[in-house]
Amino acid sequence: MLKVGMLTSGGDCQALNAAMRGVVKGLYAKRKDIEIYGFIDGYKGLMYSDFKVMGAKDFSGILNKGGTILGTSRQPFKLMRVPGENGFDKVEAMKQTYHKLGLDCLVVLGGNGTHKSANMLREEGLNVVTLPKTIDNDLWGTEMTFGFQSAIDIATETIDRIHTTASSHSRVFIVEVMGHKVGWVTLYAGIAGGSDIILLPEIPYDTDEIVKVLKERRKDGHKFSIIAIAEGAITKEDAKLTKKELKKKRAKSKYTCASDELAKILAKETDFEIRTANPGHTQRGGNPCAYDRVLSTRLGATAAQMILEEDYGKMAAIKNDKIIRVPLEEVAGKLKYVDPNDDIITEAKLAGISFGEK
Ligand code: F6P
Repeated sequence: MLKVGMLTSGGDCQALNAAMRGVVKGLYAKRKDIEIYGFIDGYKGLMYSDFKVMGAKDFSGILNKGGTILGTSRQPFKLMRVPGENGFDKVEAMKQTYHKLGLDCLVVLGGNGTHKSANMLREEGLNVVTLPKTIDNDLWGTEMTFGFQSAIDIATETIDRIHTTASSHSRVFIVEVMGHKVGWVTLYAGIAGGSDIILLPEIPYDTDEIVKVLKERRKDGHKFSIIAIAEGAITKEDAKLTKKELKKKRAKSKYTCASDELAKILAKETDFEIRTANPGHTQRGGNPCAYDRVLSTRLGATAAQMILEEDYGKMAAIKNDKIIRVPLEEVAGKLKYVDPNDDIITEAKLAGISFGEK
């Protein structure tokens, strides 16, 4: 009997179910003596031995279903070694569940934090195979994570909708896009939605430049403007501060979010009518787009192959449209940022988009 544990951890995204379906289909295509142990709510299920025994049928009909049929939760990596209530040892508990059930391996679907913990479990001697999920696309070792393209579509649709109302009212609209510390979703949705200004964490912005671009657009006869701002975007001045200094400054100024901060600045410096829009978690919700269904199926099927070959301790990833296997120790703890010198930034600038730089 092949016993495979499976869990989804961290923020959810589209195509988690499609990826799990890919794994299960790949396994059952080669063997029938399989038991899947689906852990509930991510690492928490593994810690507290909360699971359901599942089979091929449980993963049928979920290719296009958003969310995760296993549930998920955030279990920060930095707290993994910190004892819980009554001295509860989380790492030891996860190992015990794994061994008690006699699992052959654990399939973990997650983003950055999840991969740090997956690598830790590998170091602790568990057989781990992982899959790269997150709308943020910030996972090192893969060119693309599933969830990313679906999130771009949603953020793009938001910008499209904002366009018509911004145009009717001759307003400046600031649309805040998710992405945590990186600007991938904002960059792609910003371009796809025809934003005039795109602000990314990787390119700290100059407020004067934004004001200049907005005024020039008005002078050129454009009655409205759209700014796509990443939730992690930051001013040039703030980028120079230490983490502690920034926290203090933001507490003092009652900082709420990137779009509100920019709106406040622009309201002081211009006479434009300004509005903000924040699609928030809608970017992670709903069904996966076709691209994500294909990517997650390819990655899932490869993960199944890895299990059958006992090729553990790796993440299935994509590079140059080929599915590859990347060692977890290379993935864990590294963020994949947008490179400000990348061709796509140059081309966007050639197309007249401002990134708020002087
Ligand atoms: O990592 C995905 C993500 O949606 C980020 O873009 C965002 O910063 C974060 O999760 C939000 O986390 P939560 O769902 O815990 O509020």
